Amino acid sequence: MRGAHITGWGSALPDKIVTNDDLALAMDTSDAWIRDRTGIQERRVGGTTAGLATEAAREALERAGCAPESIDLLILATTTPDQHVPATSAVVQHKLGLRCGAFDLNAACSGFAYALVTAHALIQGGGLDRILVIGCDTLSRITDWTDRGTAILFADGGGAVVLEATEHDAILGWDLGADGAAAKILECDIGGYLTMDGKEVFRRAVRAVVSSAENAMKVAGVTASDIDWFIPHQANIRIMHSAADKVGIPHDRVVNVLSYTGNNSAGTIPLGLATAANDGRIKPGDLLLLSGFGAGMTWASVVLRWQP
Ligand code: UT7
Repeated sequence: MRGAHITGWGSALPDKIVTNDDLALAMDTSDAWIRDRTGIQERRVGGTTAGLATEAAREALERAGCAPESIDLLILATTTPDQHVPATSAVVQHKLGLRCGAFDLNAACSGFAYALVTAHALIQGGGLDRILVIGCDTLSRITDWTDRGTAILFADGGGAVVLEATEHDAILGWDLGADGAAAKILECDIGGYLTMDGKEVFRRAVRAVVSSAENAMKVAGVTASDIDWFIPHQANIRIMHSAADKVGIPHDRVVNVLSYTGNNSAGTIPLGLATAANDGRIKPGDLLLLSGFGAGMTWASVVLRWQP
């Protein structure tokens, strides 16, 4: 049966580092509080969504050994497009020299997992051979840098993968969900700043990740003890560990880049994936569980075999 697997990966972070101490100069907070309550030590800020997405994608294309003209489709998961019009994916498509279709997908912090599932379906049933999937956000542009309830969390960055057709499908199970009744707990009006009911997002995030991860594992026919690496959306280490505990995955199997990246929304999962693949943690044959949650609320999980 025709399926898909990841053949290339890349990531991009802005150069500028903002430490917790830097934030404490601008608002009533402290390094100790932020580390203790979120697990974040510093974050990266700057650049544009198109710029960071292009950088991550170039690395992914190079690793996959793919010429730009061999890509059949570009999906950019982002909740912070650079402009209302055109879609940022069109700008990235041009920067990379692609000759294929391109669209933005907005499922907030679940966006990369949504995009991966969409790309898989288009390869499996749509006849496409090679899809570039990017998750990238520049949340700093919609963050109120005087609001300690949000500014301590949000940041910029992204990652990308090349998904290619194969006879041995690596995407073993997935789950997508949304509950628009909770739209108000994390939102940003056009031209405005992100507002968040942190406690409510926290509570729902753990529940959503756990049930979504369990649904995807059930479809894949695997259990938590089969998972080699859990790569959750990086929003708060307490959410990541609490979800891991409930799913039954030890903390040393949870990929954490949050401590130095902050939360860059659709960028966090592909960034975690690329980082752990590059540093040798993820090995061929490993079983990965990706789980995102975010504004909407949305959630999405994918179980995949690492067979680059
Ligand atoms: O991509 C999805 C995005 N969002 C999330 O995943 C966010 C999920 N929520 C969270 O991560 C957490 O709720 C926060 C990190 C935002 C807040 O942590 P918390 O443990 O829920 O803190 P809290 O709001 O219950 O506040 C505890 C105390 C309060 O003081 P009192 O009432 O106990 O005196 C707050 O006023 O900490 C105070 N506080 C702070 N103190 C220093 C709240 N924010 C800060 C701060 N620095 N930044």
